[in-house]
Amino acid sequence: MTDTVLVTGAAGFIGSHAVEHLLAKGFKVRGADCFDDYYDVRRKRANLEEIGRRPGFEFVETDLRARDASRDLCKGVDVVLHAPACARRSRTRTAPTR
Ligand SMILES: NC(=O)c1ccc[n+]([C@@H]2O[C@H](COP(=O)([O-])OP(=O)(O)OC[C@H]3O[C@@H](n4cnc5c(N)ncnc54)[C@H](O)[C@@H]3O)[C@@H](O)[C@H]2O)c1
Repeated sequence: MTDTVLVTGAAGFIGSHAVEHLLAKGFKVRGADCFDDYYDVRRKRANLEEIGRRPGFEFVETDLRARDASRDLCKGVDVVLHAPACARRSRTRTAPTR
């Protein structure tokens, strides 16, 4: 049976490349991202445009901070690659819940 990998932050730079690599290796991939507006969300949607059509990939738009989000995302998953980011350090001080 093919392993299923959950990639959080899947629309981001690291996450989208990880998804691409894992699909090429034959894994099933569930990607999750909330399209945080730290930089232009069009870049994130573009990251997923082509890989989103590949077999073996499913995408869930969700905020990992939402109650029960992680529990639901992890159903049927063998491995988690956790790659979301709150990149600007000053923002983690001024808006720690973001
Ligand atoms: N880019 C690099 O060169 C690099 C190098 C070393 C380590 N890292 C680390 O890798 C991780 C990802 O970096 P990146 O460059 O891909 O950042 P990125 O901003 O391109 O991607 C992060 C993604 O996480 C998503 N995200 C943020 N908060 C979320 C939440 N609460 N729920 C769901 N999705 C959420 C964002 O929408 C975004 O698409 C970070 O922890 C970063 O520190 C990055």
